[in-house]
Amino acid sequence: MPIRNISVYLTLVFFVTLACAQNRETVTGCIAGNVTMKFKPALLDGKEVKAYIWNKVRGVNKDPSFAKFEPGASPEFEIYYNSEHQVQNRLIHYPEEPATLYLTNLKKSDEQRYTIFISYVDYVGTPTEWIIDLVVEDVCFEKPKEVGKCAVTTCYTGDNGVLKTPDGARQTVMGYKLVKVCDDATSGNYSCCNAAGTCLGQPLQESTDLELKKRHGILSI
Ligand SMILES: *[C@@H]1O[C@H](CO)[C@@H](O)[C@H](O)[C@H]1NC(C)=O
Ligand SMILES: *[C@@H]1O[C@H](CO)[C@@H](O)[C@H](O)[C@H]1NC(C)=O
Repeated sequence: MPIRNISVYLTLVFFVTLACAQNRETVTGCIAGNVTMKFKPALLDGKEVKAYIWNKVRGVNKDPSFAKFEPGASPEFEIYYNSEHQVQNRLIHYPEEPATLYLTNLKKSDEQRYTIFISYVDYVGTPTEWIIDLVVEDVCFEKPKEVGKCAVTTCYTGDNGVLKTPDGARQTVMGYKLVKVCDDATSGNYSCCNAAGTCLGQPLQESTDLELKKRHGILSI
């Protein structure tokens, strides 16, 4: 083999090794919010998947099996120990995206390591896997988006949170609250606090879109 080909070959081996080493990621969600957990195991070429099996840590001497989906055997997604995991009506699975899980109304207890193992028909080697470390933040105050002349964001606190508005008012937040600022009177610094008193601040101004302001006659340039 000429030297150049060898080096191309070694480079390829290096990248394939890198690709294989990267079989995990951290996914972050907000309390009371939703999260998409896209598991990306490197599927074996030409092999038919027998089962998607998820594990979740359940302490020593406990079966870590968490959920299973067997496309060939059943269209149903099965969840083990549902009461213990408290994911009833919160864990959503679509058969057309077999390796992806959607978790809604996030709780701090969802903060866990989730591992998917793929087993194949007619194959007894090591199953392919992908690990997601799910992090659930206690308070989130999203970066505002401009929607028309409004600044729109969401404050996530979980139960019994508080949204403090610039005029000093306090609004209770149960889970999460959409915040919309569309005029000067309500513009200013907002604060999003959870029941434990952890707060995040966010300045919210009505849109600074110059064109829009000109059109509304606020700016006369
Ligand atoms: C989370 O998903 C549920 C179900 O699809 C939806 O009703 C809810 O509004 C979503 N929550 C947020 C914060 O978008
Ligand atoms: C909003 O908060 C920023 C940074 O904390 C501060 O500099 C600013 O003066 C505050 N604005 C108002 C209207 O309180």
